[in-house]
Amino acid sequence: MAVERTLSIIKPDAVAKNVIGQIYARFENAGLKIVAAKMAWLSAQEAGEFYAVHKERPFYAELVKFMTSGPVMIQVLEGENAIAKNRDLMGATDPKKAAPGTIRADFAESIDANAVHGSDGQDTAKAEVAFFFPAMAVYAGR
Ligand code: TYD
Repeated sequence: MAVERTLSIIKPDAVAKNVIGQIYARFENAGLKIVAAKMAWLSAQEAGEFYAVHKERPFYAELVKFMTSGPVMIQVLEGENAIAKNRDLMGATDPKKAAPGTIRADFAESIDANAVHGSDGQDTAKAEVAFFFPAMAVYAGR
């Protein structure tokens, strides 16, 4: 299995709940390393660009509004199989359908305020890491 990097965002609902530390512990306990991180207030332009793939979906405007409603914690996770491992830790998009013990089952409110984002594949991971941490893409070469 290859060492991968993936982009994770702790969304405004989870930051407001004060559970950044609890979510970080889950990453660490699963063997994922935090190799870059920043807390930020996203502008509507940044959130809109980040979620551009969903531009035509009915929930897009609400999603951008939600992602700009408070600070987010953005990190790059590194480890064996990091992309799938992080998706497993997160659980299903809709917390009502998320497996018990996953981050979304334990901390998310609803399908739109669902605590965390995680890249869903190798191409998106590369693009999303470069979006928030452009220097990593240049200097780390992955
Ligand atoms: P998606 O990429 O389908 O899910 P995931 O975050 O699990 O990769 O959707 C991106 C985000 O869009 C999702 O985390 C929350 C929001 N969203 C809604 O608000 N309503 C919806 O019906 C869906 C499918 C997503």
